[in-house]
Amino acid sequence: MAPAAPHTTDRAARSCTSCHATTKALGYGTQDGRYLKQYTQGVFVDIMNEKGQLVTKTAKLQISPIPDLPMDLDQVVTREGEQVQSVGQHWPLSGPLTKDQRDHMERIGVCLSCHKDIPTGAFVYRVISVVGTNLGLIPKTDAEHQKLIARAMFIAANLEIFGFPILALIVVAGIYLARRKRQRAQ
Ligand code: HEC
Ligand code: HEC
Repeated sequence: MAPAAPHTTDRAARSCTSCHATTKALGYGTQDGRYLKQYTQGVFVDIMNEKGQLVTKTAKLQISPIPDLPMDLDQVVTREGEQVQSVGQHWPLSGPLTKDQRDHMERIGVCLSCHKDIPTGAFVYRVISVVGTNLGLIPKTDAEHQKLIARAMFIAANLEIFGFPILALIVVAGIYLARRKRQRAQ
C-alpha cells in the first residue's frame, strides 16, 4: 500500500501468509473489516445474550453512533473494489492494491485445497495416510510438511509433463509388437 514505510523493516522477514492470507494486508480490514463494523449503530458493552442482543435496560453507549462511518477503520477497499478511504497520500503511486492484484494474491483456501480430502478422502489418500502413520512418516514439523509437499509437487509436475508422452510411447510400442507377432505367425 504505502511504498515506503520505514517502521516495517525488521530482521525477520514477514511470513507469506501475513500478506497472502490476511484480509488486513489485502486492504479489507481486520477479519474482513468485521471488527468494528457497527460504528453506524454505536457500541454497547453490557450483558448480552448469545445472539449479541442486550439483556439489560440500563446499558449505556460505549461509543456513540457515527452515521457516516460504515466501515472498520482499517478497511481501505471493499470486496467489490470500492475504495473507502485514502492511503499513503504522500506518494503519487500509492493506493490500495488493484482488484486484479488482490484476487491474484489472496490464498486463504490453500490448506483446504489438499486437506478437505487428505487424509480421509479418496482411497489413495487413505492408504497413504495409514501407511504413513504406521511407518512414522506423517510430517510433524513445518519443515517436514514443506518437504513432503515439495516432493509431491515434483512428482505431479513430472507426471503432467512426461506422463502423456510415456503413455503414448507404451501404446505405440504395444501396437508395433502386436503387429510384428501377427506377421511372424502368418
Ligand atoms: C508484504 C506482503 C507480501 C508478502 C510477505 C509476500 N507476498 Fe507474495 N505477493 C504480494 C503481492 C502484493 C502480490 C501480487 C503482485 C501483483 O499481482 O502485482 C504477490 C504475488 C505473489 C505471487 C504471484 C506472482 C506472480 O507473478 O504471479 C506468488 C507466487 C507469491 N506472491 C508468493 C509469495 C511467497 C512464497 C511468499 C513468502 C516467501 C510471499 N509471496 C510473501 C505480497 C506479499
Ligand atoms: C499439496 C497438498 C498439501 C497442502 C497444500 C497442505 N498439506 Fe498438510 N499434508 C499434506 C499431506 C500429503 C500430509 C501427510 C498425510 C497425512 O497427514 O495424512 C499432510 C500432513 C499435515 C499435517 C499432519 C497431520 C497429522 O496427521 O499429524 C498437518 C498438521 C498439516 N498437514 C497441516 C497443513 C496446513 C496448516 C496447511 C496450510 C498452511 C497444509 N497442511 C497444506 C498435504 C498438504
